[in-house]
Amino acid sequence: ILIQPSAEAGCLLAAKIIARVVREKPAAVLGLATGRTPLRLYKELIRMHREEGLDFSKVTTFNLDEYVGLPASHPQSYRRFMDDHLFAHINIDRARTHVPDGMAEDLLAECRSYEQRIAAAGGIDIQLLGLGRNGHIGFNEPTGSLRSRTWIKILSEQTLRDNSEVFGDSESAMPKHAITMGVGTILDARQCLLLAFGPSKVRAVEHMIEGPLSAICPGSALQMHPRAIVLLDENSAAGL
Ligand code: GLP
Repeated sequence: ILIQPSAEAGCLLAAKIIARVVREKPAAVLGLATGRTPLRLYKELIRMHREEGLDFSKVTTFNLDEYVGLPASHPQSYRRFMDDHLFAHINIDRARTHVPDGMAEDLLAECRSYEQRIAAAGGIDIQLLGLGRNGHIGFNEPTGSLRSRTWIKILSEQTLRDNSEVFGDSESAMPKHAITMGVGTILDARQCLLLAFGPSKVRAVEHMIEGPLSAICPGSALQMHPRAIVLLDENSAAGL
């Protein structure tokens, strides 16, 4: 658990950790996350690519999740988020970037194929994670199984409220379902790197780290991971 003076400092440190993985293993498999939290981290990776030659040409990525029913071109789709905030600005081979397809005709087949693609790539070297205010990771909402694999999940009311802000319009416009890596999929990553900043995450952080291991707080599953780094700022760590 690393408590940094600010979210900015936390993101810069997270970028260094990811850059080190890529430098040591140019064909690394990165698990990536969306949301407001990692934006500054992605900016820093882009800067490292431009100014320090950080090379993504052999890197493969798997994103945690995607909304069901949003085409890749939709401004709020996670595929679009990743293209706009990272992939378009680095030398990654787009064919090696994976985001679940929320428009797949057979969604359950897409879930199974996502797991197979992760396995075929050799597993995830480092999985980046944010934390929902209710303790969710990916879109694994409270009460879901801690052994779950990639599947379709129903979003909780809290998550719908929190994320509708990003949608910029009403909650009713937001998809109510998502495809997400399961908690079990996440725990299979060789290393996890969770970022949580700001006062709105205090309770989730407290439960994740000091609370009991419980499906009520899916993030608490990281207590079982042998190599998990949790990066906080002083606001999100205030309850510890
Ligand atoms: C979203 C995403 C998560 C993300 C979380 C926190 O619902 N599915 O992967 O970690 O909410 O979002 P934010 O970083 O915007 O606080």
